[in-house]
Amino acid sequence: MTHRLVRYDFGERLMHTLAALAYLYLLLTGLAFWTPAFYWIAVVLGGGYLSRVLHPWIGLLFAATVLWMFVVWRRDMRVTPEDRTWRRAIRHYIRNEDDKVPPAWRFNFGQKQLFWLMVFGAAALLLTGIVMWLVASIPGELSAVGQIATLLHAVAALATIAGFIIHVYMGVAVVPGGLDAVIHGEVTEEWARRHHPLWLAQVKSENDARSRE
Ligand code: HEM
Repeated sequence: MTHRLVRYDFGERLMHTLAALAYLYLLLTGLAFWTPAFYWIAVVLGGGYLSRVLHPWIGLLFAATVLWMFVVWRRDMRVTPEDRTWRRAIRHYIRNEDDKVPPAWRFNFGQKQLFWLMVFGAAALLLTGIVMWLVASIPGELSAVGQIATLLHAVAALATIAGFIIHVYMGVAVVPGGLDAVIHGEVTEEWARRHHPLWLAQVKSENDARSRE
């Protein structure tokens, strides 16, 4: 029987699912506000008014899920000396030459970069979004503060969209088994040996220590 390991516990899967759903909603409604070419998306999602009302509240939910991720994953996301070796060999990762990719801990350097991009991106979106929310309640023309906040909000959104597209592509198309792990929680020992051998060794030694107790 293939031995299976827990990669994401229930809390981690819940937090990731909420982050993914909230982000997708924000992305779709954000695109609808961005250009009239995408306004039909807001219509499909219940109308322009509802989208405009819900977008900031779902934004708060997204910021909360990213804060939750920061609390739970920040230690695993610290850059280690092995990550520098991994970064130098990134071309092998891109070409899918698994045997030439240096070993990774629980998360590889690319996954860590996505995490920090989302943490700083979400913080920037939250701050600029709150300014836009407050400014919108003041009648009259958009002030300079409102204009700058709107511009920075769009820049932060574009940065996270670039990271999000790469993240979904890597997680769904390039690394088979990753999506199943983040939905159901488990991976095979073979998967862990192939993609995260240092993490596998760590989990095994922790399990051995526990069974000796
Ligand atoms: C439809 C949307 C999404 C899909 C399909 C998706 C897919 C995945 C997959 C497959 C993994 C597991 C990778 C592995 O363990 O090898 C994962 C992990 C992760 N996801 Fe997502 N994700 C989505 C949205 C998001 C969003 C919006 C964020 C940011 C707030 C995010 C942040 C992360 C992080 C930090 C991890 C752990 C490290 C990593 O694998 O990059 N994900 N996701």
